[in-house]
Amino acid sequence: MLNLLYPAARALLFRLDAERAHHFSMAGLRASKNLGILQALTAKPESKPISFAGLTFPNPVGLAAGLDKEANTIDALGLLGFGHIEVGTLTPKPQEGNEAPRLFRLPQHKALINRMGFNNPGIDQGLANARSSSSFNGIVGINIGKNKITPNERANEDYAIAFEKAYPWADYITANFSSPNTPGLRDLQSEEAAGKLLETLKKRQQSLHRKTGRYVPFALKVAPDLDEKQIDGLSKIFRNGGLDFLIATNTTLDRATVENHPNAREAGGLSGAPLTSHSTEVIARFSAGLGKDVPIIGAGGIFSADDALAKKAAGASLVQIYTGFVYQGPALIHDIIRAW
Ligand SMILES: Cc1cc2nc3c(=O)[nH]c(=O)nc-3n(C[C@H](O)[C@H](O)[C@H](O)COP(=O)(O)O)c2cc1C
Repeated sequence: MLNLLYPAARALLFRLDAERAHHFSMAGLRASKNLGILQALTAKPESKPISFAGLTFPNPVGLAAGLDKEANTIDALGLLGFGHIEVGTLTPKPQEGNEAPRLFRLPQHKALINRMGFNNPGIDQGLANARSSSSFNGIVGINIGKNKITPNERANEDYAIAFEKAYPWADYITANFSSPNTPGLRDLQSEEAAGKLLETLKKRQQSLHRKTGRYVPFALKVAPDLDEKQIDGLSKIFRNGGLDFLIATNTTLDRATVENHPNAREAGGLSGAPLTSHSTEVIARFSAGLGKDVPIIGAGGIFSADDALAKKAAGASLVQIYTGFVYQGPALIHDIIRAW
């Protein structure tokens, strides 16, 4: 039913400023869930469990990080059919992010450009919000990052703080070191810096595993703007360093396919259809380097079941959606699950 209503809702939402439309939709989802309306409008998705890294995902479609930055809409989003929901990015301290406007639509390209800059309530509040969700039965990932004011030399301290706090509650943790909107963050993807981040988090994971008796897997999330040499170098580091799984990809800085659009000059990460084939190529290259040791969650410009199946063919064990979900609505989740 919601699938039928979505095109009309989208037409109204797209008349609002993009960030306002986002807050309005999230509040609407929470309110309609609290009133019991959302439950009546949605159907349970098919069960198609997928297991890796000690986790069983109920189906192959997850919500990519950055939509539920405050981790306060998990139950309502879960009703739409997602098998997993990645909340955040959450940083050790709360931060406001960049000045608005910072989110732009490029409808002709089925794309978004954002330079949100990790606006979030901080890891403590984010986890408190996440803990108050009660009805979602899928997997919840906590996506963590560093505060803008923390220099790159001390970035690993921020990741370690957020990792320790998220560990007792998360089903998995993602360290996001590939957002283009925190100055210098993507430099952490150099082989040396990535190796150190992986080693830092692996040590924390081992000691927390010993202490709590619970193993929480973690992922790193990479940018699509890596050349083949960088991908091959990172694959080696990830495999040898015992990374549990990889999320590929984040948004791109490339504007080649959208350069005539008035919003193309806006600074930030481009997501959606212009990213579809490139992120699939990046997944394929990582998959060749990582083999079966490090599974991949594929993201980037998925607008149809075929787009998702192309990611699967490239080596993704499951997928996440964001921009395609904004443009197509919840029907996309069910379409992918059916076709998987
Ligand atoms: C508005 C917006 C905010 C985002 N914020 C985050 C974030 O906080 N952390 C993160 O890891 N990825 C973030 N992303 C990236 C998405 O999770 C995803 O990796 C990327 O958009 C590619 O998928 P898509 O083409 O389906 O949107 C954001 C994307 C958008 C559009």
